[in-house]
Amino acid sequence: MSAAEYVPEGAGIAELREAAQGCHGCELWEPATQTVFGAGSPKASMLLVGEQPGDVEDQRGLPFVGPAGKVLQKALDEAGADRSTLYVTNAVKHFRFEWRGKRRIHQTPDTSNVVACRPWLEAEIRRVDPQLVVVLGATAAKSLLGSGFRVTKERGVVFERDTPAGTRRFLATIHPSAILRMDAELRDQGYADFVADLRTAVAAV
Ligand code: URA
Ligand code: SF4
Repeated sequence: MSAAEYVPEGAGIAELREAAQGCHGCELWEPATQTVFGAGSPKASMLLVGEQPGDVEDQRGLPFVGPAGKVLQKALDEAGADRSTLYVTNAVKHFRFEWRGKRRIHQTPDTSNVVACRPWLEAEIRRVDPQLVVVLGATAAKSLLGSGFRVTKERGVVFERDTPAGTRRFLATIHPSAILRMDAELRDQGYADFVADLRTAVAAV
């Protein structure tokens, strides 16, 4: 299973986004509403990678426009990120869920989904060519940094890695959904630490 055969070579972001609508590189395309490709400036200096679209994103066709997206946007604003310098995407481009009654409940993508979808993410990184890739949470880390990477231990610092898209600078931090899941008494600190990591990212581009 792989998206590779669907990725047009040498394409720009708009053409990649268009082609991704027809991707059947893994089984997730079928129950989902649509492919949710990355959005933002195709010349961004900072490219942020989440996990996969959620329920709201699946319906609207845009990344990070639901509850986790609200946390991310607020934190980016507080960290002083200029929105015109950002490109936001996900490791997996289709929403993976299970039905519980009438509700669609998020399911973490399998490693097979992450691997299958990686050609889209690599194409985005190659084409946008950002100065820094911000890895939001474990799934994005698994896709780009390998399964041995521990976000909680290695967060908040800029480092270099050789990747299929060339030598790249990265900074990892937690996923904004993790802040929403924190116990109330831990949430303020969790959010403050997240903003601090993003501030480090903003200072590095
Ligand atoms: N969570 C993600 O990882 N990505 C989105 O686009 C929305 C929620
Ligand atoms: Fe293709 Fe990725 Fe969607 Fe799977 S999740 S069908 S690889 S776009």
